[in-house]
Amino acid sequence: KEIVVSGIRSTGYLHLGNYFGAIRNYIRMQETFNCYFFVADWHSLTTHPDPKDLRSNVFRVLAENIASGLDPEKVALYVQSDIPEIAELYLLLNMLAYKGELERVPTFKDKVRLQPENVNAGLLTYPVLMSADILIHRAVKVPVGKDQEQHLEMACHYAQRFNSRYGELFPEPVAFNFGDNLVKIPSLDGEGKMSKSENQMATLYLSDSDELIRKKLSKAKTDSGPAEPGAPMSDSISNLFLLMEQVSTPEVIKHFRDTYENQSIRYGDMKKQLGDDMVNFIAPIREKALALQHDQTYLNRIMKEGAEKARESAAQTLQQARKLIGIHYY
Ligand code: TYM
Repeated sequence: KEIVVSGIRSTGYLHLGNYFGAIRNYIRMQETFNCYFFVADWHSLTTHPDPKDLRSNVFRVLAENIASGLDPEKVALYVQSDIPEIAELYLLLNMLAYKGELERVPTFKDKVRLQPENVNAGLLTYPVLMSADILIHRAVKVPVGKDQEQHLEMACHYAQRFNSRYGELFPEPVAFNFGDNLVKIPSLDGEGKMSKSENQMATLYLSDSDELIRKKLSKAKTDSGPAEPGAPMSDSISNLFLLMEQVSTPEVIKHFRDTYENQSIRYGDMKKQLGDDMVNFIAPIREKALALQHDQTYLNRIMKEGAEKARESAAQTLQQARKLIGIHYY
């Protein structure tokens, strides 16, 4: 079975971007692949979260993953910090990671802009830790959204560098999505991607109430009406269609595409329909996650079992990496 790894940071509430970029793939992949999915709590430390928030975020991310359909019996579902082997591989890979190259990573440059007062070394080496997450299980496929593409390229560089210096150990992992392209779910304000931290009214969370989902969609950006036949659709409208394609039936999508084409579309109707379909999609996940997230006994059992599975695989890789490097003395 091919090995699959992917993680989600514990920085806040999960949103539709996380679901359609990542979790949807996890749920399909768990049936046929050897999957390792985890909560990236170390990665979320770059912004110095409050310890209480960190803890509740970790439990909620676990609960939201299970509520979305991830089956802890079929995959290893664990928390990154439970696997010390990852930290050791991170240290080893840091010797193959160059400062100049890390400084040029676009996500690093964004962070420097967003938090100039806290440009710590953890931010700079973020892609190295992420590579360690992936390479520790010698994964070949990594289901992620479009925004992680560059990080995956870095993981390939480190795999190559290690292999050519010390001997063949790591396969080169590829970013994966069912369907041809990696997904980027847009924000409802028509600017950039949906994200955990940015404008909350422009992000649909898996924990949003029915009322809030409808409200956010009713406020989503539109344009002043369909373009002339043949002219390109505006970004804000194509974003709404993109969301509709995730949650609505083919008939509904066709209806609104047709009315757009013949210029009789009413955006208010479209948003209302999208609101209904989105509520039907999100509500069951929200309710299930709510029930799970305070069941600490259950979640503790899941994360412990997941960590056991993950450490077994991680220890094997690390042992070989040490040996190839020359760290074997006894
Ligand atoms: P994070 O926590 O920001 O996001 C988790 C997953 O959700 C995807 N995603 C999106 N996909 C489509 N459209 C969006 N608007 C959108 N927003 C988020 C992300 O691409 C990601 O797949 N560095 C990673 C966490 C990580 C990881 C790893 C991933 C740490 N180690 C190893 C894979 C393998 C991150 O910050 O994701």
